[in-house]
Amino acid sequence: MKPLQKVAILTLICALMTLSAGSGLTQRIYDFEKMSKDLVTLLTIAGFSVADNLDVINLHKAKLGMPLPEGEPYSYKGIDPVTFAKTITRDFTTRTGIEIRFVSEGKGGYGPRNPADLPDEWEQAQINRFKDIGLPPGVGFGEFLKVGEKPKRVIYRYFFPLYMQERCMKCHGDPATSPTGDKKDITNYYMENYKLGELRGGISVTFPIS
Ligand code: HEC
Repeated sequence: MKPLQKVAILTLICALMTLSAGSGLTQRIYDFEKMSKDLVTLLTIAGFSVADNLDVINLHKAKLGMPLPEGEPYSYKGIDPVTFAKTITRDFTTRTGIEIRFVSEGKGGYGPRNPADLPDEWEQAQINRFKDIGLPPGVGFGEFLKVGEKPKRVIYRYFFPLYMQERCMKCHGDPATSPTGDKKDITNYYMENYKLGELRGGISVTFPIS
């Protein structure tokens, strides 16, 4: 092989290595905070949509975008905002390895409605952080953590606080407004008497990194 050919081949190999290293690098640079924010935005929009369409979902013959039919029977179909969001996140976690949880410490004598939503230590610390600081809605907190033993794994955890809005009140609000008159909401849980703007809990996202 002529020296010039050798130089050309070497240059090509170097260029290819640089290119593949470069693309490997860009593939590995993720903005975990941005991804978490976008994920929770999607989930809150989905949850809000369920909360805003409870009558459409549960009223016989009701249709999206149409006036509610009068005199039709109401029958709760078992879909509340968080249950609905969980049907999505379960499958999402199986496919991606990214864990998403809805957590709350509950209120007064009530713990979380679903015992599986009890916060772990890190999640409880975030709930306390947001209860104390009372940051404006839309602000979350995320950090990289080393977990486990030999070898330690790196994960990214993000917590997004959920505050009580008007659309949440019919189930988590004042028990005196119970639609069934027994302090329960339509899902048959006792209403916890959360106030508008109060921290209800949050969405917790965990990315496995290494
Ligand atoms: C139709 C009634 C209903 C409405 C409206 C509703 N929720 Fe819930 N919520 C539930 C039920 C039922 C559960 C338990 C879900 C489960 O079993 O996983 C729950 C669970 C939760 C949880 C998980 C913690 C726990 O207690 O298990 C959070 C957080 C939450 N709701 C926040 C909200 C917020 C914020 C809103 C308003 C945007 C809202 N909910 C509106 C019925 C409702």
